[in-house]
This record gives sequence, C-alpha cells and structure tokens, in this order.
Amino acid sequence: MPLVSNIIPEDLHVAIIMDGNGRWATAKSLARLKGHAKGADRVRDIVDAAMDMQISHLTLFAFSTENWKRSEGEVLGLMALFRRFIRSEAAKLFSRGVKVRFIGCRDRLDKSLISLMEGLEDQTSQNDKLYLTIGLNYGGRDEIARTAKKLALQVKAGAIDPQDINIEMFGSNLDTSGLPDPDLVIRTSGEYRTSNFLPWQSVYAEYVFEDTTWPDFDKELFEKTLGEFKGRNRRFGAVSSK
Ligand code: IPE
Ligand code: IPE
Ligand code: MG
Repeated sequence: MPLVSNIIPEDLHVAIIMDGNGRWATAKSLARLKGHAKGADRVRDIVDAAMDMQISHLTLFAFSTENWKRSEGEVLGLMALFRRFIRSEAAKLFSRGVKVRFIGCRDRLDKSLISLMEGLEDQTSQNDKLYLTIGLNYGGRDEIARTAKKLALQVKAGAIDPQDINIEMFGSNLDTSGLPDPDLVIRTSGEYRTSNFLPWQSVYAEYVFEDTTWPDFDKELFEKTLGEFKGRNRRFGAVSSK
C-alpha cells in the first residue's frame, strides 16, 4: 500500500463528489437506498482515512440542489439517512477533533434536520484537526446567486459600497467563507462532470475521476488518487519552473 502521509502538503483541501450509490445497489439487485446506506458507511471510513493521512480539509457532496428531482421515497430516505448519520456520528466526530460545517441552502430542509445540523456545527465549532464540510442541498449556482443577493441587499441598505465588491469580498461571502479553495476534487463512479459542485472555488482544483462507485471507494483508492494529485504540475496560470 503506498504511503502518502509524508507527502501531504499542509492545509490540503480534498473535495469529493460521492457518486454511484444507486448503481452500486442496482448491480446487486438492491434498493437504491441500500446503496445510500452503504455510502454513509463509506463516509465514516473516508473521514477516518483523511485524519490518518493528516488531510486538513475534506469537503463532501451529499445532496445537490438538483437531487430533489428524484422520487419522493428516495429523497425522504436520504433525509432520514442524514438525520441518522448526524445522530450516530456526532460524539465520535467531536471527540476526534473534527469541525463540521454544512454548506448549501437550508430553506428547503426540514426543521428536525436543520436543528441536528446546527447542533453538530455548534458542538464541534472549537475543533481544528479536520475541517469537514458537507454539501447538503448545495448547488454552486444557487450559492453564487444567494451571495449576489446578499451583497445587493447590503448595498441597498448602505452597508457596503458597490465599488468594494471584488473577488476576495465575493468569496468571503460564499457558504465556504474562510475555507481554502479545494486542491483536489475527486468524483467516483466514472462520470466526468462536476454537477454544480463548488464552481467558484474549484477553478484551479485538480480533478481525479475514479471508475469505482462510492460504496466501494476505500482508503487504498483514496491514497491512489492523492498519489495522482501529487504527480500533477499545478501552474495557476504562471510558467512552471519544473
Ligand atoms: C450519489 O449516488 C448520492 C447522491 C447523489 C445523493 P447516486 O444516487 O447519484 O448514484 P447513481 O449515480 O444513481 O449510481
Ligand atoms: C452529484 O451526483 C451530487 C452528489 C454526489 C450529491 P448526481 O448523481 O446528482 O449527478 P448527475 O445527476 O449524475 O450529474
Ligand atoms: Mg449519481
């Protein structure tokens, strides 16, 4: 097994589009929700692996603003799974030093879920070993539009000058305010698209697409993707000295 812990740069931000739960289940003649439950088990393992590898920021895409288009049964099942996950994992995340934050629009989420999300954010707010960010009803376009609206209202109220709106100011008003941009975005299940995940923040991220579905994505594959990332030559628009 490749040892990557000694090559992880400080403050590395890995973001993952956890895709393929449904296909994993269908291939085994199981209900899609079984795939989501297995996917939730995988989240536990990958959070542990990220901590073992001393990754400082992990962002996971759990539910998109477009996922409401699915059947009512699947959506309700996913929401129940999110509630179950928070209840069962909160104590462990807290004691391991994980700081949890949710990004996305909360307006459409049910009150019991919002209060569990807020509770976990409050409980873990002083932690700093791993910054775990979870996209729940997250969509990049929605985030950008909400941010534009927020700034427009501040201009209208006279709180800010339109001339002061620039990249830094806009970025610091996004849901991800204060987080570094992702260095690496991983998508599982062989789909080559971003599906509205962190469009503002990922303009210079490296992408790794894995064929494996999320329920089968394990620590070894995670290490492999990090190895691939390490081999990339990041130029950020400049000319490389390599
Ligand atoms: C990802 O798996 C989980 C969510 C989007 C909630 P999918 O449910 O998209 O699985 P596939 O892509 O249908 O296999
Ligand atoms: C992206 O996966 C959203 C999450 C992983 C939460 P989707 O399965 O919703 O994306 P598309 O529909 O295949 O683009
Ligand atoms: Mg999918």
